[in-house]
Amino acid sequence: MSSKSALRSQQQHKVFMASSEDYKICVVMVGLPARGKSLIAGKAMRYLAWVGIPAKVFNVGSYRRHATPQPAATFFDPHNEEGERMRRAAAEAAMTDMLQWFHDGKGVVAVLDATNSTKERRQWIYETCHKADIETLFVESICDDEDLIMNNILEVKTTSPDYKGQDPELAALDFRNRIRNYELVYQTIDDDEKNYTYVKLINVGSTVIINQIKDYLSSRLVYYIQNLHIKPRSIWLSRHGESEFNLTGKIGGDANISERGEAYARKLPELLRQSGVPANTKIVIWTSTLKRTIQTARHLKAETGYEKLEWKALDELDSGVCDGLTYEEIAEKYPEDFAARDEDKYNYRYRGGESYRDVVIRLEPIIMELERSENVIIVTHQAVLRCIYAYFMNVPQEKSPWMEVPLHTLIKLTPRAYGTEELRFKANIPAVSTWRGKGTSAKHQDFPAEGAEGAAATGAH
Ligand code: ATP
Ligand code: F6P
Repeated sequence: MSSKSALRSQQQHKVFMASSEDYKICVVMVGLPARGKSLIAGKAMRYLAWVGIPAKVFNVGSYRRHATPQPAATFFDPHNEEGERMRRAAAEAAMTDMLQWFHDGKGVVAVLDATNSTKERRQWIYETCHKADIETLFVESICDDEDLIMNNILEVKTTSPDYKGQDPELAALDFRNRIRNYELVYQTIDDDEKNYTYVKLINVGSTVIINQIKDYLSSRLVYYIQNLHIKPRSIWLSRHGESEFNLTGKIGGDANISERGEAYARKLPELLRQSGVPANTKIVIWTSTLKRTIQTARHLKAETGYEKLEWKALDELDSGVCDGLTYEEIAEKYPEDFAARDEDKYNYRYRGGESYRDVVIRLEPIIMELERSENVIIVTHQAVLRCIYAYFMNVPQEKSPWMEVPLHTLIKLTPRAYGTEELRFKANIPAVSTWRGKGTSAKHQDFPAEGAEGAAATGAH
């Protein structure tokens, strides 16, 4: 990257991080077992990694598991002194590691994932963090829907390492008893704790109580967390059909789709059906404001009658002075920039245009809206799709700009309790490849076989 663009990128990164850089925040999960605390913590981690904020979960259960790999419910009985001692030791070990992690300058946000279900425990956490100049944000998940809790137990608890190799029915029963033991001592956050910053999510965010949010990063986190829901749904991602610019290898612009692109547009409703759309499912279509995505979604809209929204935030990465050029022309006219982009593609910002990092920042409201929404099909562009995909599949920043997202392919993402399931459906309509490997300026290049350098990281998290 040229020193000028590196500086610009750093400055821009600073603006984004400004309010978080001086902060250290400990997000303290609160709630009975099987209330989705670990799931919320995991999603918050993914979101923070995506926006570039270093964060880590400290899960007290995994510390406890060192000493007690498979405890029965009686271990959690508040009258069990040995159990109490070991649980306290696990909380202290997690806290010690967390303080060290902050002290070593490794991150901005830590999540202390445990039940933290008594006032006494929360006070200890608050005071310990306060002494170390760490802000606390308590996130309490309350849920009294018995069916949902039982479903949570069956979905995730019976397969937890705590019950490895055990009969699922007996495991579910034991876990129910573990919850009963926690209920004996559980104290919800109340008026005595008004001086804490906290958010209470009641029945998966159907009621949200927010208290004393002081800084920008906490408010973003709270906004993110309060938008999460667990209704089953899928998100479909597609690039626009092949465009006239794709054929000639030009980047950017606002070209029409090609004949083959039009064939893909006609095929899209069928491809979507083939991917599996549950009966009576309403899907909302999102496109960018550029002609090629609107044209691609045209038949889908006409055939299904689904609602359609156009988002400027979904427009392709702005290539500034390089808009309308081929990679070969860019390499000729701006050789330093071309090399700089290969060096650090995520941070390289086109002269007068954007970087991948910029695109992620403008996509943040899209991600918030996606978390609130149910079924959505997004018809967008190569770089934007990479960024959205990277969020759902937890792809690291340095890899995401190099991922292959071929034309005429529908990607179906289905969030599950732990991870996102991915399916790809090819339309079998030929299209050029717009993927470009590091160090080449080829017009249309094939993506290397899996395992070769530059291959995309997939895999759900
Ligand atoms: P433990 O204290 O045993 O670690 P936990 O509270 O961390 O439990 P999770 O392991 O996160 O619970 O539970 C995951 C289950 O909770 C998933 O099935 C998920 O669908 C569900 N879930 C997610 N969010 C919520 C919520 N706000 N309220 C209730 N259940 C939720
Ligand atoms: O070539 C299609 C395209 O969407 C261009 O408009 C855009 O500049 C490019 O892909 C983004 O991909 P990359 O970041 O790999 O150059």
